[in-house]
Amino acid sequence: MISFTKEDLNILDKIISSRRDVRGNNFIDKKVSNKKLNIILESALKAPSVGYSQPWAFKIVRSKDEKNKIYKNFKRNYLKSFPKFENRPLYKKLKLEGIKESSINIAVFYKKSNKEVLGQTYMKRSGEYSVVCAIHNMWLTARVMGIGIGWVSIIKPKKVRKILKVSKEYKLIGYLCVGYTKNFLDQPELKKVGWDKKKNLHDCILN
Ligand SMILES: Cc1cc2nc3c(=O)[nH]c(=O)nc-3n(C[C@H](O)[C@H](O)[C@H](O)COP(=O)(O)O)c2cc1C
Repeated sequence: MISFTKEDLNILDKIISSRRDVRGNNFIDKKVSNKKLNIILESALKAPSVGYSQPWAFKIVRSKDEKNKIYKNFKRNYLKSFPKFENRPLYKKLKLEGIKESSINIAVFYKKSNKEVLGQTYMKRSGEYSVVCAIHNMWLTARVMGIGIGWVSIIKPKKVRKILKVSKEYKLIGYLCVGYTKNFLDQPELKKVGWDKKKNLHDCILN
């Protein structure tokens, strides 16, 4: 059995704490090699999944044309969402993606199993939650390699799937921008700019 030391725990906490969502204002023009990309993807495959269903699938996006099309979809939805944040003028100033600035984009999909999945009989979305676990592994692994990931959700999943010519059985869970960065902020950018405060543990415990 592998066991860990207190120092390992400290390192793990350091990795978790220094993971950041990286956006276009921070990516630099440097290619992520296939070797590094594979390490990131392999870490995804080690994630927990309901009934060991491993329901994930990845589409690697490098083409400028596809990135431009997805960016256009982002931009349209971002602009459309302005009325929802009318009372938050900061929203219009935020850079909320790095689709074109990052070396690679990865669209992460969920594929429903064609057999009954142990554990998914009541909580139908646990397959999708499993894909999120895979994304988090990628996020942490990339961080250790000095590679940033930014998650973009201001996009229409079906539209993205069509742009990428991915078939209907796949549902988009996360769209990731992956690349080297100028730096990693020491705290979440949205905290730094005053969008929201960090919650304390006691705020998250139900009585
Ligand atoms: C499901 C999910 C969707 C997200 N979508 C976006 C997004 O569309 N644009 C963006 O700038 N950040 C997005 N983020 C990043 C969050 O804003 C970020 O995780 C949060 O502000 C905390 O910052 P940190 O990740 O640097 O710690 C998303 C994060 C998650 C988990």
